[in-house]
Amino acid sequence: MNICFLMYPWEEIDPENDTSLALIHECVKRNHGVALCTPANLTIRNSVTNAFCTVIGRMEKVPGSLKSFYKKAEIREEMLPLAGFDVIFMRANPPLDPIMLNFLDSVKDDVFIVNSLQGLREANNKLYTAAFGDSHDNIIPVTHVSKNKNYLVKQIKESKSDKMILKPLNGFGGSGVILIEKSAMSNIKSLLDFYISSSDESSNYVILQEYIEGADQGDVRILILNGEPIGAMRRIPGSDDHRSNVSAGGSVAKHTLTKQEKALCKQIGPKLVKDGLYFVGIDVIGGKLVEVNVMSPGGITYMNKVYKTKIQSKIIDFVESKVMDKLQAFNKRSRLRNEVENA
Ligand SMILES: Nc1ncnc2c1ncn2[C@@H]1O[C@H](COP(=O)(O)OP(=O)(O)O)[C@@H](O)[C@H]1O
Ligand SMILES: [Mg+2]
Repeated sequence: MNICFLMYPWEEIDPENDTSLALIHECVKRNHGVALCTPANLTIRNSVTNAFCTVIGRMEKVPGSLKSFYKKAEIREEMLPLAGFDVIFMRANPPLDPIMLNFLDSVKDDVFIVNSLQGLREANNKLYTAAFGDSHDNIIPVTHVSKNKNYLVKQIKESKSDKMILKPLNGFGGSGVILIEKSAMSNIKSLLDFYISSSDESSNYVILQEYIEGADQGDVRILILNGEPIGAMRRIPGSDDHRSNVSAGGSVAKHTLTKQEKALCKQIGPKLVKDGLYFVGIDVIGGKLVEVNVMSPGGITYMNKVYKTKIQSKIIDFVESKVMDKLQAFNKRSRLRNEVENA
């Protein structure tokens, strides 16, 4: 099969820890055709959606380690029509580019897209957790999302707990996630001014959230494929930070899913599949869902290291089976059409 990764440029890949590279490597090892492009590479040529792609040359012997694969891979640039691929694997970093989705709308019926465009539209920011309809605060922490500073200040003042979390609606990698304390109220108005009065109109909502006790011990990243957990790890914050993101200095360790975490996955899995969110990474603290990462979930390479596994092979197995289903459905329809045509 031929697979196009819509992501960040090849040159920006971190060859040691990049989840997208692990997926690409697995595809090349299976002798699939692989190309990469970025949202900025999309181009409509004579009314057909194309992309300036970085094509990875087929290799006779594919190096086993990601680092030497990255070094030895031969790449070339080529303009290719997106509907000619069997799969588009969406791996661009947030924020979601709505124009990119408009380009892809024209190919969505021809190509299997992970995650689906509809799913990405629905779940591209932290509001998605609220869509699980958790009115009893069982699966998500108590959350407020608003641009109304007076409302937010009131919530902080009335909160029973001294600590709360403040974060931008569209952040990622831990950026802008701060721990606030009622005892330092004098800073809070200024912080809210800073978060809410940013120049980018669409992204200046803030999330004010219950601080989940135990977060200082780290959070749990669970990778979910087609509604089922396929890997988990604990991320432990560095000694001088409250955030567990590896990009913010956290470290990783093995984690076996607790009963509560398994129940959480069972509860959210069917909706993820229904929304076309086939491959996501969820962040869980104290059994509560903090975030569903749908755009470019990471963690495979760290999980592979601590567990000595190859999680990417399950993901590519799944993608292959989806392509096979599509092909079989197409062949069946052609057969039936022929039958009618020749009657
Ligand atoms: N409600 C919360 N309670 C305690 N810690 C939190 C909370 N929300 C976020 N954090 C900490 O900040 C990190 C980043 O927050 P998250 O909402 O996952 O945003 P990002 O998209 O930047 O990863 C979490 O992994 C966790 O360590
Ligand atoms: Mg996160």
